[in-house]
This record gives sequence, C-alpha cells and structure tokens, in this order.
Amino acid sequence: MSADNGISRRRALTRLGTSALGLAFMNFSLLAYDTKKDALRRLLPKFSEQSRTLLSQVLDDPKFDGRISPGAVESLVKNEDTTIDGLMLSLLPLAQSYARPPISNFFVGVVVHGASGSLYLGYNIEIPGQCLGFAVHAEQSALSNAYMHSEQSVTSLAVVGGAPCGHCRQFMEEISPAGEIKLLIPNQPPTSLASILPSAFGPAALGASHGALPVEKKNLVLTSGASDPFIGAALDAACRSYAPYSKSPAGVAIRTISGRIFQGCYIENVAFNPSLSPLQTALVPFIAAGEPYSAISAITLVEVEGSKISQRSVTETVLAALVPQLKPVVVQARFGS
Ligand code: THU
Ligand code: ZN
Repeated sequence: MSADNGISRRRALTRLGTSALGLAFMNFSLLAYDTKKDALRRLLPKFSEQSRTLLSQVLDDPKFDGRISPGAVESLVKNEDTTIDGLMLSLLPLAQSYARPPISNFFVGVVVHGASGSLYLGYNIEIPGQCLGFAVHAEQSALSNAYMHSEQSVTSLAVVGGAPCGHCRQFMEEISPAGEIKLLIPNQPPTSLASILPSAFGPAALGASHGALPVEKKNLVLTSGASDPFIGAALDAACRSYAPYSKSPAGVAIRTISGRIFQGCYIENVAFNPSLSPLQTALVPFIAAGEPYSAISAITLVEVEGSKISQRSVTETVLAALVPQLKPVVVQARFGS
C-alpha cells in the first residue's frame, strides 16, 4: 500500500461498516431472505433488483466457492448494461465483505477474470494470533481460486483497498510471467502487471520455462494404497499443485461438519516467500461458502514422502490457530510411473 492509501477516519468507519456486512455475509445461510437482500442492497446499491436476485442465487448455491460462472457473468453484464471491467469494479465491495482480517481490520477485495469467462472473488485472510506471513492477500486469494478451477490464464484483476503490494505483484508474476494481467483500480486508468512490476524476477530465474498456468497434472499415488473420497480429494489437490522449485507437491482437503469438502493446492513462487501452503489455498473456497472456522471437522494433507520440504508444520500451526486441538491427518504419496 502506498502512503496516500493511509486509512483516514472516514475510510476506517466505512470499512467497519463493511466489516459488519461481511459478518452478515458469513452467516448468509442462517439469515432470512430479506436480510441477505438487504446486505446486497447495501454492498451494491447501484445494482438493479434483477441483478441482486441473480447474485443472491449464485451466493446461496450450496456449491458456491467464490466463482461466478460465465453464464451469470454474462447476465450481470447485460442487466447492468456495463462491461466486464465495469462489472468487476462494481463487485469489489462484495468481495471485500468476505475478508477475515482479525489482526489489521483492513479489508481488501479483489475480483479476477479468468480466460473461461468466470469471475473469482478474493479477500484477505489473516490467521488469528499467528505470524503475519501466514496472511493470504486478497489478490492471492482470487488468483489461487482461478488456479484451483484450472483457468488457462487470468486476463484481469480488480482490487479495492489500494494498489497490489509488492508481494502480490510477485505472486501475479508467477501466474502471468508475460506481465499481461490487466489491473483495474477504482478511479484510476487501467494498467498492466508489466508496467507496475518492471524488471521482474520471474520463474525463468530458477530455470522454469513457464508460470503456474495452465495447471499441469502430476501422477501421484498413495504409498499406503488405502483411500476414501476425502483422502482422494487431498490427493487430487496434490496432483494439481505447482511446485517446480522444491519438487515437493502437496494438497489439502477440508471437511466440514455438514460434509462439504474443499480442496487446496500448494502453489509455489520463484521468490519463495509469496508461496501459498495448501491449507491457505483451501481456506479461500471454504470462506466463500460462509462457514465459520468451527465448522471444520477434519483436514487431510497429502504430500510426497522424502520430499525436500514438508507442509506439515505450517498446516498444523494454521489449523491449530483456527480450530484448537484439531490436527491434520498426513497421508504420504509417491510419484507414479
Ligand atoms: N493486503 C492485501 O490483501 N493485498 C495487498 O496487496 C496489500 C495488503 C492485506 C494483507 C493484510 O491482511 C492486510 O491487507 C494489511 O496489510
Ligand atoms: Zn499483497
């Protein structure tokens, strides 16, 4: 964030307002229809009733995971008589309302457009009581969700809460080493990743010939052989993870009390620190579903035996901060032939 994005009292109050709405959103499924509609009315005051009805159907879908389908995007663009860029900018307060920043109370919202035509909501997630480095930035949140949905590429990213920080620019570089992502910031002319990250330290610096997209599936098999759909989901995430530098793929599955399963891949970065652990990635769709952390009933981590690095300790630490006493089950895999 640049200095001129400092939080004035007025902006802080606006954010507090948004935070209250965010909480209302988290408990969406528990609230009466009118209340949900009220929340959308306050977050998106310029939207037509028709668009708000469509959006509440999307957000209320029991399978909602932060992605708005190309069909719904097309209808919203038409209803609002706008462009994709215009729609992305107008959805930012909605994305922002999902943020969970108990440490900074600073709400960041992002909307990413994938090549498929889907939009992905992104929001910052801070891990209570833990190292600031475990925070998932809103940009990482939306981009990792696009990755999880196997987008071929990401075309644009809109953000509210300030310009993307250096860490996020570096994360974007891994998604688009050609620097082609268009950046949309309210009340500013569009720009590109290449223009805000000149002289980038990209994947080529460590010998990679391309970035994280498109997703390349690896063949991993469990060493124990025994599996079930929950372990299978974590194994599938490990197979789709991006670990060209450590060659240590890993994946996580979160199961909730209601039986929903959320997957997260490990996504590496050439500059190492902006890498996302698989549990961080899995928290993004989990939060989109509006569940409190106490709804997590189990976590499985699949990683490759004998790898250079392990995701076990970060997964245990982050999970303990969210659901005390719950430990991840760690299942070993190996590269298949
Ligand atoms: N944050 C973002 O989500 N994106 C940025 O590019 C800047 C910072 C988040 C991280 C942390 O949760 C809070 O804002 C304060 O830095
Ligand atoms: Zn950032």
